[in-house]
Amino acid sequence: MRLAVTVSVIFSLVLLCAEKGTTQDRKEKTVATLQHTQKLTLLKLFSFFQAYSLLQRIVKAGGHRGLQECERQFKNEVWNCSINGKHVVRELPIFVKTTLPQATRETALLHAISSAAITHEITFQCRQNKIPGCRCVDLKNEQPKGNGDWQWGGCSDNIWFGENKTKSFIDSLESPKQNARSVVNLHNNEVGRKVVRSNLKRECKCHGVTGSCNLKTCWRSLAPFETVGTELKRKYRNAVKVRLVDNTLREQQRDKPVTRRDKKMVFLDSSPDYCVRNLTVGSPGMLGRTCSDEDVGLNKCRSLCNSCKLKPEKELLEKQVDCRCKFVWCCSVKCATCTKEYSVTTCTKR
Ligand SMILES: *[C@@H]1O[C@H](CO)[C@@H](O)[C@H](O)[C@H]1NC(C)=O
Ligand SMILES: *[C@@H]1O[C@H](CO)[C@@H](O)[C@H](O)[C@H]1NC(C)=O
Ligand SMILES: *[C@@H]1O[C@H](CO)[C@@H](O)[C@H](O)[C@H]1NC(C)=O
Repeated sequence: MRLAVTVSVIFSLVLLCAEKGTTQDRKEKTVATLQHTQKLTLLKLFSFFQAYSLLQRIVKAGGHRGLQECERQFKNEVWNCSINGKHVVRELPIFVKTTLPQATRETALLHAISSAAITHEITFQCRQNKIPGCRCVDLKNEQPKGNGDWQWGGCSDNIWFGENKTKSFIDSLESPKQNARSVVNLHNNEVGRKVVRSNLKRECKCHGVTGSCNLKTCWRSLAPFETVGTELKRKYRNAVKVRLVDNTLREQQRDKPVTRRDKKMVFLDSSPDYCVRNLTVGSPGMLGRTCSDEDVGLNKCRSLCNSCKLKPEKELLEKQVDCRCKFVWCCSVKCATCTKEYSVTTCTKR
């Protein structure tokens, strides 16, 4: 439910900003008649709303990117990132009006991957100089780790800005009351942001006489979002069931506190059986599910159906593909057309 509320609040904020934009337009027309100082104040206000609605757009694009990555990562799993039988990406506006049934492992993943994608997107747009007031950072005052044959320099991705903005957009949507649900959601939002940070990679450049690399400067830059998605999927698998005791999350099985440092994904409710169709809990079921051997191989497709006690039925198909491509001087590529066989497996009743 939280996520649906989250998304719907984001959308209403977007609308709100669109409205603000038009009233600002009207206001701007009267600017000419105002005193210099008032003019400045209004322009400042205007650029504030401009920056705000720009961030709204980036937040929305980031949210989409996160859900897209979720569908990609889980395409051939029993839970395939569909909610209430809908593709979350395409159906985002409808998704807004529906509710996520419970605080399950899947809800946790959706929170973390959305928050991660928004952090990633804001940080990325900052590097592209698309966000006024955000610049990449020079880490030259930071001590380099390791054997010291390099220095920080150049332009590092401003992950602090990305995290801060994401936090203020997403975390403020949770209920201020410290109920278990909101504590769990906030925790998973943070896990998402932290995974983006822990996957930053170091990139370096050599300086000095040709090829000598006397001086190496390095900067931190974002990993591709697919890398973040892969790590989040791993965390989803290792997620732990928790309870809220005295405002702290405690692992149910080992009865020990989950700290923010653990960066574990957490959930409150057990998942429904996604093999079985039950729209009350948002499960479309696995009957009729298809899987292509081009994506994951035939064995994985078979075991996907078998794991739900359904019968895998293989169908051989053909398609035309480019092949024996040759470079033709100059400058084009000529290809022949070949027929390629592939198979699609459908999960059917035994
Ligand atoms: C992020 O937020 C923290 C605390 O709210 C603040 O101290 C820090 O300066 C912020 N960093 C950036 C880059 O905005
Ligand atoms: C769907 O799941 C809910 C919760 O587990 C259960 O109470 C209900 O009976 C299920 N409905 C069907 C049609 O299986
Ligand atoms: C997920 O699986 C269901 C059937 O189990 C299917 O209807 C839906 O299109 C799939 N969603 C995605 C994103 O592949």
